Amino acid sequence: MFITGAASGIGRATALAAAREGAELFLTDIRLAPLEEVIARVRAEGGRVGDSRVLDICSYEAVREFAADLGRAHGSMDVVMNIAGIAIWGAIERLRHEQWRRAIEVNLMGPIHVMECFIPPMIAAGRGGHLVNVSSAAGLIGLPWHAPYSASKFGLRGVSEVLRFDLRRHGIGVSLVCPGGVDTGLVNTVEIEGLDPHDPRLLAFKERFRRRAVTPERAAQCILRGIRANRHLVFTSFDIRLVHWAQRWFPPPYEFVMNRLNDELHALQRPRPA
Ligand code: NAI
Repeated sequence: MFITGAASGIGRATALAAAREGAELFLTDIRLAPLEEVIARVRAEGGRVGDSRVLDICSYEAVREFAADLGRAHGSMDVVMNIAGIAIWGAIERLRHEQWRRAIEVNLMGPIHVMECFIPPMIAAGRGGHLVNVSSAAGLIGLPWHAPYSASKFGLRGVSEVLRFDLRRHGIGVSLVCPGGVDTGLVNTVEIEGLDPHDPRLLAFKERFRRRAVTPERAAQCILRGIRANRHLVFTSFDIRLVHWAQRWFPPPYEFVMNRLNDELHALQRPRPA
């Protein structure tokens, strides 16, 4: 099982849970120290890490080299999981070009690099398998200020929707994971252009998000169950399943909630009351 973003949050929890179920892991992340911590923890629990490498998924060459080295030493993967990602939000009048590009590079081109390099050997091996792409609720619905993030996550959803049918004849299942709130490092690293990161109102907003969020361990269980059941859409919380349903079948409440959330975030731009 190959996992990107294995050093933290959902990737870390999925790696640990899969190792407990006997998977041999091949792990990667852009950050060395936390990746090493996960590897040590897997091994301490008796799990297997076949290989690992620190790399930036934005680099096609780095992903290709790792895939080639793994192929030579271990053969093709059975499960490939694109979990690594970043969050960049902002109103369109404030976002910088570089932020749009970075969201697409990491969240869309990164997973594409992984699919390009790892899926053809799986097809050639003829053993079937599973591809997991972690998108987001923002890959389904119009959350406020999520335009660059949603561009990348809707993009990943599009690729997955096509591969779901293309790969069926090869016995390779495709799951698109659409988490809502998950309490991970992303809550701290999210880049919100135009807001003071120390504004107590923003900190309160994040705290509310955290309270409603599920744990990464729960998200990992949903992902592993989704693979076993060969489910295409995998939710990690009921709220997103419900909003997605409303968006398609009963739009007024969906539009009401999106407008409310939008007003709430927009209000955070106003100067703080003295
Ligand atoms: P996280 O920040 O805890 O973990 C993401 C990991 O990806 C980190 O270890 C980071 O070092 C790695 N990473 C970032 N850029 C990279 C790059 N260029 N190359 C290689 N590795 C890189 O975040 P979390 O929450 O576990 O996120 C996992 C996935 O879940 C992401 O794709 C995210 O967009 C998605 N997601 C998360 C939600 C949440 O509420 N936490 C909600 C919806 C989706």
